[in-house]
Amino acid sequence: MINQQEFTRRRRKLIEMMDSNSIAILTAAPEQTRNRDINYPYRQDSDFFYLSGFPEPEAVLVLAPGREHGEFLVFCRDRNPDREIWDGYRAGPEGTCKKYGADDAFPIDDIDDILPGLLEGRDRVYYAMGKAPTFDRHLMGWVNTIRSQSRAGAVPPGEFIDLDHLLHELRLFKSAAELKIMRTAGEISTRAHCRAMKICKPGMFEYQLQAEIEHEFAMAGARFPAYGSIVGGGANGCILHYVENSAKLKDGDLVLIDAGCELQHYAADITRTFPVNGKFTLEQKAIYDLVLKAQLAGIDTCAVGNHWDEPHQVTVNIITQGLIDLGLLKGELDELIESKGYRDFYMHRAGHWLGMDVHDVGDYKVHDEWRLLEKGMVVTVEPGIYISPDNTQVAKRWRGIGIRIEDDVLISAKGPEVLSSGAPKTTEEIERLMAK
Ligand code: GLY
Ligand code: MN
Ligand code: MN
Repeated sequence: MINQQEFTRRRRKLIEMMDSNSIAILTAAPEQTRNRDINYPYRQDSDFFYLSGFPEPEAVLVLAPGREHGEFLVFCRDRNPDREIWDGYRAGPEGTCKKYGADDAFPIDDIDDILPGLLEGRDRVYYAMGKAPTFDRHLMGWVNTIRSQSRAGAVPPGEFIDLDHLLHELRLFKSAAELKIMRTAGEISTRAHCRAMKICKPGMFEYQLQAEIEHEFAMAGARFPAYGSIVGGGANGCILHYVENSAKLKDGDLVLIDAGCELQHYAADITRTFPVNGKFTLEQKAIYDLVLKAQLAGIDTCAVGNHWDEPHQVTVNIITQGLIDLGLLKGELDELIESKGYRDFYMHRAGHWLGMDVHDVGDYKVHDEWRLLEKGMVVTVEPGIYISPDNTQVAKRWRGIGIRIEDDVLISAKGPEVLSSGAPKTTEEIERLMAK
C-alpha cells in the first residue's frame, strides 16, 4: 500500500518543481458507459491517483503552493445518502480531508464559485490540456471570469504549462513502496501464467485460459487485468493485440498469452508462449529459442547508464541474424537492419516503461537523444517473432508461428532485476511444468 506520507511526499516534490506563484489542476477520470445506464468498473486516472490516492470520479485536485489555508485542495462529490444506497460510499469533503489528507475540500458543485478565486493572481497554471475537453472549456471560462473583473484589479494567469512533463518525470522513478507492489503484481501474474500452462490442453478455448489467468489474479486481490488479456492460439499469436480470445486451441499449435494483473493501480505485463499439447515441435523450438536468446540479451542490457534503445537494438540484431541462419530472411545482417527487413517478422519495439499505466508515462528521449537508463525505472523486454500464415516467402512449416516472451525489469544498481521471473521460460522448463 502507498501510505499517506508517500502521497504527501509526491505532492511536495511536484510543488518543488513548479515555478513560483503557480497552481496545478488535475481532473479525475470520468465514468465510462458500458451500455445504457451501466458503467465499466471505475478506474481513477493514474496522475490523479498518484498525487492523492483518491478513488472517486467527479473530482478535481488543486495544488496551490503558498496558499494560507493549505496547498492541497480537492473538489469532490458531496455525501448523498440516497445515491450512496445505490452506488456506494462517497468520502464527501469532510471525509476527503480526514482520509486523504486534503487541507481543504469542497463540493464539486461549488467549483464555479471557488476556482476563479484560486486562479486569480497566479502567474502560471500547470494543467494537462486536451485530456478532458469539457473541463478545458470550464477552465477557460473561469479565466474569462477573472478577466472580466480586471477593472477591479483582478489578474488572470498569463501562462498555461503542460503538467504532464513534470509529473511524468516523477512517475518514471519508482519508490521502494511502488516496487514492493510491482514485485507482488509480478508474482501474482507469473503464478497465473503457470496455472495456464498446467491446465492447458487441446480442445480448450482461448477464453477458458483467460478465465484461469484472471481467476488467479482476482483470488490474489488483483481484481482487474492491467489491460485486455491476450490469449492467442496458433496464428492468432501473430496478431499483436489479439483480444477476441474465442478460438479453440489446437493440438500441435502454440498459444501466446500476454496478461498481467493490476494491483493497487500498478501493472504487470508478462507474455509467455507455450505448446498447447505440452511439447514444442522442431520449428516452434527453433523460433522460440531465438526469441529467448534475444530476450535474455535484451534484459542484460537493462543497466544503469545504457540508453533506452539498447535492449531494442540488441534484440533486433540477434533476431535478424537468427532468421538469416534459419533461412527465413535472405541477405546481409547490416543491410537487413538498415532496410528494416526484419520487420516482416519483428514489427514492434522491444519494450516500454511500466508502472501505474501498462504503457507508462515518461519521456524516451531527452534533447532528441535516447534517454539513459537510471536506477528505479521499470521497463518491459518483449521481443517476438511472428510468421504470418500468409507469408509465402517461407516454407509452409514455419507459417503461423507467433512467439513473444515478455518480462518486467527493474533497473537497479545491482543490475537488472526481473520482476516476473516466476514463470518458466526455457522450452525444457515449460515442457517439464506442463508434463506435471
Ligand atoms: N500488453 C501490451 C504490451 O505488451 O505492450
Ligand atoms: Mn504485454
Ligand atoms: Mn508490454
